[in-house]
Amino acid sequence: MKMEKEEMIDDELSSVNELKVIPMRHKDVEAKVKAGKVEEWFYTDIVKDHFFNPRNLLRSDDDLKKFAHDGYGSVGAAACGDKMDMWIKIDKENDKIIGCLFKTFGCGSAIASTSMLTVMITENGGMLIEQALKIKPQDIVKRLGDLPQRKFHCSVLGDKSLRQAINDYFRRTGQNDRIVIEGAQVVDMALKITDKDIEEAVLDGAHDFEAVQKKTKVGVHDKSCIPKVKELIEFYKQKYYGG
Ligand code: FES
Repeated sequence: MKMEKEEMIDDELSSVNELKVIPMRHKDVEAKVKAGKVEEWFYTDIVKDHFFNPRNLLRSDDDLKKFAHDGYGSVGAAACGDKMDMWIKIDKENDKIIGCLFKTFGCGSAIASTSMLTVMITENGGMLIEQALKIKPQDIVKRLGDLPQRKFHCSVLGDKSLRQAINDYFRRTGQNDRIVIEGAQVVDMALKITDKDIEEAVLDGAHDFEAVQKKTKVGVHDKSCIPKVKELIEFYKQKYYGG
């Protein structure tokens, strides 16, 4: 499939920055950044620390056996095709998360943000499950000091796999009334585009209707969905980026 020029630049920036985590750019890319045509990418020292020294990363099958988890979650990112697995350990008496391990095929930003998430939910004796369910990607980004906007969807991988792991724990322990299902709803009847597709587009950097339509083709045939799609874009922008 032929890649768009902008996508190739993004990929170039991604691979260079993700692997080295220091600003090394191809001359053409450098020129585009200077001209304001490409977003400046910046990684905080906290992001670099969690990328180079990830906390609670699963390193071997033996580690997993010793861990004896109570819940497991696994998600893939529609925005980039990466994957995240997470295992949690629960203090059942106090309803707290006291342990967490993760494994990912995601990028450096996914490693750093999930590492930070695992710290947040296990620090100070563990977080109450109810509280952990309220963590938003923007809370993780705040603790990291920041994350380039185009890498924001990477922080959602950890967040979603945690929710799945908690649901798995509820299932295993018969607490079915506590399971939270995040379903998808079709908004564009012609192309069967769902609210989840809109969510992924916003997480992938499309922040207005035109940009979301370019990515998803939403509203091209079914124009009646456009007001609803605009509402959803605002909702997800608020949810993930705040302000
Ligand atoms: S680009 Fe896929 S997880 Fe970051």
